[in-house]
Amino acid sequence: GNISHSAEEAMREAIVTDNILPPPQRKNFMKLFGKFLESRTRPSLDWTQVEQVPPEQLMDWEALPKCPDDQAVRHELLDKLVILKLNGGLGTRMGCTLPKSAIEVRQDMTFLDMTVRQVEYLNSLYGVDVPLLLMNSFKTDAVTSRLLNKYRQHNLTIHTFMQSCFPRIVKDTLQPLPQGPFAEENEADWYPPGHGDLFQSLFQSGLLDNLIEQGKEYMFISNVDNLGATVDLNLLYYIADNDIEFCTGVVDLTRADQDGGVLTTYKGKRVVVELSQVPKQHLETVAKKFTLFHTNNIWINLRALHALLVEEKLSIDLVTHERVVDRLKILQLETTIGSVIKDFSNVLTMKVPRSRYLPVKSTSDLFLVQSSLYSVSRGMLIPNPGRPYAKDKIPIIKLGEQFVHIQDYLERIPNGVPDLLALEHLTVAGDVVFGANVTLKGTVIIVANEGSVIMIPDETVLEDKVVTGNLRI
Ligand code: UTP
Repeated sequence: GNISHSAEEAMREAIVTDNILPPPQRKNFMKLFGKFLESRTRPSLDWTQVEQVPPEQLMDWEALPKCPDDQAVRHELLDKLVILKLNGGLGTRMGCTLPKSAIEVRQDMTFLDMTVRQVEYLNSLYGVDVPLLLMNSFKTDAVTSRLLNKYRQHNLTIHTFMQSCFPRIVKDTLQPLPQGPFAEENEADWYPPGHGDLFQSLFQSGLLDNLIEQGKEYMFISNVDNLGATVDLNLLYYIADNDIEFCTGVVDLTRADQDGGVLTTYKGKRVVVELSQVPKQHLETVAKKFTLFHTNNIWINLRALHALLVEEKLSIDLVTHERVVDRLKILQLETTIGSVIKDFSNVLTMKVPRSRYLPVKSTSDLFLVQSSLYSVSRGMLIPNPGRPYAKDKIPIIKLGEQFVHIQDYLERIPNGVPDLLALEHLTVAGDVVFGANVTLKGTVIIVANEGSVIMIPDETVLEDKVVTGNLRI
């Protein structure tokens, strides 16, 4: 109505008068802001109509036919592939002020190093030159370029480009937080608007046209911190053979999956719904229908994507985040890549094994991937076959507040992560420090009372144990 119209006008005026955004970004930002104003009066979905995905719409990973054992076929496929890693995030939840991809995971290797290894291995195995694309943000670009320097002499094509940088919005006034264009002094007034920004940024950088001109046809996208997202030739073959425009993977939702999207159907169409965007009063009713967690491992046909962008038919969903910065309530308008699923025809949704989805959002996740649950080979995490549980069952880890920041976490495991091979569940609370060669099995709960410290001595084995108090056991 009138109110939103005037809010829109006021925002446009501020953006133009203060020259806050250059024209192409201006248009995208205003579109997002328009969606935001709309969302305040109209719910994005009728939650009673959200349904589970029928089983016939879920292909099983194990059922994928094999790619023919023919070098010409493999070459032709891989020559049309590009690999893209989403590298705009910082790992704020781990108190990380460097790009998340700069965190050291294993054997002095960062997420970025391991990713490079994976792509180099693929290329050398098949004698191809699949390029690695990195979408950086203004928060990650400089450090990433520095880290990439050491790969200059390598025989690997790496393209980087920047995603957009949008102004934060003051919640009470709906005016932009910055008073002028992006600058070092006002950097805190800006944010990278989520990974859904990939499509516009790839397009506007000219890289999308460029790739298509080079004959590239398929893009495999994943989170840079998900080391399980490796190229699978059987899947690529299936996608090419069946003219799939958009393919995405899901895993069974577990208690560990708290932040991200779920795949459901809405009025007969498959949609990815962000858990954070479900209104509280509906959560209970829809939760039962949320069983498929979205991995953000997406394969997209570049020509189909290009056509949608040219025709302006990509209907990406808005995700609104509210934050408090210097006691001021601000809004960030973001988007996610999964939400465009509904715009493509010939969509493939796949149930994939957990080993393809090993995200690191918190230090509890990092604890898992740094542990003996995985070995590392050519940048890939290989599940340890010695685990005495079902293949997809990973331990539930809950490290307390004292472990949240990566620096604290590292200080509490000075000799590395304990052996978790036979662990089912771990809860740690309070001031706890692990010694060297500790083994945790079954369900272990360690709680240090306030004001006390628990040091787990070297070589300790804890099996189905609760450790509390202030003892030095
Ligand atoms: P996450 O959901 O893990 O978020 O991102 P994050 O931003 O990295 O971490 P927090 O929330 O600050 O703790 C999933 C993937 O999307 C990328 C991240 O780099 C990660 O690979 N991403 C996220 C972007 O590329 N751009 C963004 O604006 C946000």
